[in-house]
Amino acid sequence: MTSDDKLRRILDLGRWAPSGDNTQPWRFEIIAPMHAAVHGFDTREHCVYDLDGHSSQIAFGALLETIAIAASQFGWQLSITHRQESPESRPVFDLYFEAKPDLAVDPLLSYIERRTVQRRPMSTRALNQDQIRALENAVGPNFSLVWKHGFKNKLATAMLLFRSAKLRLTLPEAFEVHRSVIEWQAQFSADKIPDQALGSDPLTTRVMRFAMHSWERVHFLNRFLAGTWAPRLQLDLLPGLSCAAHFLMVAHQSPKTMDDYIEAGRRMQRLWLTVTQLGLSMQPEITPLVFSRYAKDGRTFSREAFANASARQIRDEMQMLVGAQNCDQAVFMGRIGHGPAATSRSLRRPLDELLLPNASARNV
Ligand SMILES: Cc1cc2nc3c(=O)[nH]c(=O)nc-3n(C[C@H](O)[C@H](O)[C@H](O)COP(=O)(O)O)c2cc1C
Repeated sequence: MTSDDKLRRILDLGRWAPSGDNTQPWRFEIIAPMHAAVHGFDTREHCVYDLDGHSSQIAFGALLETIAIAASQFGWQLSITHRQESPESRPVFDLYFEAKPDLAVDPLLSYIERRTVQRRPMSTRALNQDQIRALENAVGPNFSLVWKHGFKNKLATAMLLFRSAKLRLTLPEAFEVHRSVIEWQAQFSADKIPDQALGSDPLTTRVMRFAMHSWERVHFLNRFLAGTWAPRLQLDLLPGLSCAAHFLMVAHQSPKTMDDYIEAGRRMQRLWLTVTQLGLSMQPEITPLVFSRYAKDGRTFSREAFANASARQIRDEMQMLVGAQNCDQAVFMGRIGHGPAATSRSLRRPLDELLLPNASARNV
């Protein structure tokens, strides 16, 4: 295999990194046989969940970690330089690979393509101490996992998600996001989330599909037919109870810079791959964190007057659940449990679609 083939194989595996709503906010550039660049673009302009680009930055971290793991199969070590002159919302990372014959293959390599989000109910069987230890090791020395297990804690977390989902489903700004990221009547999707991976039953999915045609329909259903109840029960409350535990990934130092979030993303991906290695499943639960951050910063994020007050309530509830410091220093949240992997999932855009023409070729 030539170096060029190896580099393409590494990027091809890198594609499987997770990103919020499967947006894949990156493009690749092959510059030399052992030098590539990642051109990121965050979605803060149009996605209410991508507050200050942090969700995208966590995804960039997941991508860079996946690439580092993929490179280890060829004994290539990855060094990353963040081009500081690149704009914050469109960061560029140079990836330099160096052959290191003694480099061990990363044990998480074979889980890159198998890792997927599970949004449906999981078994309530508790995690054992070995599993908890492996997951805590995966996030490394700069992050901790705060666990919420046991029925009472899971119920409190599920109620927080239920409240957060009400805001999510009644926010016009979120409607635009949901409308653009769901692929209807699909088991797989290369650039979106297939509706069958959402976790709702077929009837509720049909109603959601009908409603998604226009904000007026959503508004009508919400107002007169309790339209948020069925999706919130199926997508938030029930799965919130049906898992082994919820977790909060907390940074020991308050994350401030983009590089802090990228580091969090690298560790989050090691956590998720370890979940897969252990035969477990995971679903991120990012919205309470996002709404809570809006409330903390006192930022208006919707044209609807009720939104700020709802976000403040979510923040209060979150603080009661995990404490004020954990709430402020959390970088990720989710649930984990036993059970089969999802049968419907997001796929990825083909590598050729993600590859930019080489800069020197572009200048010709
Ligand atoms: C930063 C980040 C935030 C995410 N937030 C959520 C979330 O709140 N709820 C959810 O169900 N999935 C969430 N996801 C999962 C993505 O939707 C999922 O990774 C993506 O659609 C690709 O699917 P796959 O992970 O199955 O390959 C998140 C992923 C990332 C990287």
